[in-house]
Amino acid sequence: MRTVHSLKELRTILRGYRRQGKTIGLVPTMGNLHEGHISLVRKAAEAADVVVTSIFVNPMQFGAGEDLDKYPRTLVEDQEQLEAAGNTLVFAPGVDEVYPEGLAQQTQVVVPEVSDGHCGASRPGHFEGVATVVTMLFNMVQPDLAVFGEKDFQQLAVIRKLVRDLMLPVEVIGAPTVREDDGLAKSSRNGYLSADERRLAPVVYQTLQATARQVTDGRSDFETLEAEARDQLSAAGLRPDYFNIVNSQTLKPATPDDIEITLLVAAFLGTTRLIDNLSLTR
Ligand code: PAJ
Repeated sequence: MRTVHSLKELRTILRGYRRQGKTIGLVPTMGNLHEGHISLVRKAAEAADVVVTSIFVNPMQFGAGEDLDKYPRTLVEDQEQLEAAGNTLVFAPGVDEVYPEGLAQQTQVVVPEVSDGHCGASRPGHFEGVATVVTMLFNMVQPDLAVFGEKDFQQLAVIRKLVRDLMLPVEVIGAPTVREDDGLAKSSRNGYLSADERRLAPVVYQTLQATARQVTDGRSDFETLEAEARDQLSAAGLRPDYFNIVNSQTLKPATPDDIEITLLVAAFLGTTRLIDNLSLTR
């Protein structure tokens, strides 16, 4: 497995693969890899001949006061895990390689509607940062397919819409959320939790499951259910950011007629912001 840091080198290597008629799969990440990321790499390796994993902590998607500086950078450990998972190439560019003229000069990709609300409301500019860097990665790697986790449900919806709207020739594949044994969704940010916080963290998924059960059992008073779920999170010692019951396609508030429904949650545990979601069909 090779690691390259420059776009020039990346393009040279990928040209060779393409000349051999090989298909290319891309897994964009910010590194500090765990089993969730690795499941995406395995999925990409099933569907494409060559798998490129990008590792880039994208400053454009972090707001002021967020964890850009303390976000864990663990390239050597990441490389070991990727090698074992059958990854072909790691693309780990520096910030100057991706934004040579600086962030303020960078053209941005804006994906309306689906970026509004939920994490988009709590993190202004976040999805513009994600959409911009993902578009750039698609242009740098020119993959046949790209794999993203359902863990970041709204992000996946933003990327699907962006690919449709801009007619990007990339097949977007979603992959299920990988969880710890106690249900907590795996996340690089779980490493920020203290031992006490880590013990509390599974309540996020438990609240999703308990609320989902009520929806499947026929409750359609979604606003009341959302408020009850937020109360459960608060009672457990978390600070809910949002708990929203939405139409799985539009991400707009669910109506009683909706068949495919997704529960989206974000909550702070201390200073760590955890997100998770659960989809159901009625
Ligand atoms: P990052 O948080 O590193 O996640 C990279 C990919 O791994 C995303 O597609 C995310 O949904 C997926 N992922 C994270 N945790 C997962 C889990 N527990 N189970 C399954 N998949 C999981 O998301 C980003 O980076 C960035 O926004 C990025 C798309 C790379 C753009 O900068």
